[in-house]
Amino acid sequence: MLGKFIVFEGGEGAGKTTQLNLVNEWLSWSGWTNRIKAHIQGDYSPVLTTREPGGTILGKGIRKLLLDVTATGNEAIDERAELLLFAADRAQHVSSCLLPHLQHGSLVLCDRYTDSTIAYQGYGRALDLTLIHQLNQIATQGLESDLTFWLDIDAESGLARTHNREQDPEIESDRMEANEISFHQRLRQGFTDLSRQYAERIVRIEAQQPNTVVAQQIQESFEPYLQKWYP
Ligand code: TYD
Repeated sequence: MLGKFIVFEGGEGAGKTTQLNLVNEWLSWSGWTNRIKAHIQGDYSPVLTTREPGGTILGKGIRKLLLDVTATGNEAIDERAELLLFAADRAQHVSSCLLPHLQHGSLVLCDRYTDSTIAYQGYGRALDLTLIHQLNQIATQGLESDLTFWLDIDAESGLARTHNREQDPEIESDRMEANEISFHQRLRQGFTDLSRQYAERIVRIEAQQPNTVVAQQIQESFEPYLQKWYP
């Protein structure tokens, strides 16, 4: 693949979105975006920021159904239905957004990807991990991240942060955040296990530090990869 695929993962309130945006700005002012431009084929942007769920038009609809408790009225979402909706969002995102950009040389910064499904649906909801891996395989067509930053924060501190921050204006009341604390503790264990299993692509970043310190550590870990990819 001509482009590079960078993913930001973590539990609630880890600060992924903030850090993804800071990386995007840093790439621009430090000159990396210009260097990536030289590798672009056709009319594609050198750096693309996107997210799951909700990186496509179909995905925005799925995101609302999945996350907004008011979107399904009083009807609870079955765990398997939830898993399949995340997979549907991903399948659309991979085929209509991620693959075309990566094939034309973009560096893609993506807020969440397959590890979130393993952590949230696999560890959090206790759905079968083998089945989730198979679904991820179908949805991604085998596309894996080149580098994943896992922003790690303990469940209590992360949730406390979500209560003080600006919420997604599209989501009235977040269904995932409303899960019991043990759910959030289990999914953190999921990310912990994943980072051991895929140590070559997952970098753990201590997220319970000031944003500027976290950003600095991400840049320091990212820089050697950029130098290797864009010498
Ligand atoms: P996100 O928009 O990153 O929300 P936040 O910024 O509050 O973390 O993610 C949306 C929610 O969807 C989040 O609670 C994690 C959850 N999620 C899953 O449960 N499984 C998945 O496969 C993905 C991609 C997200």
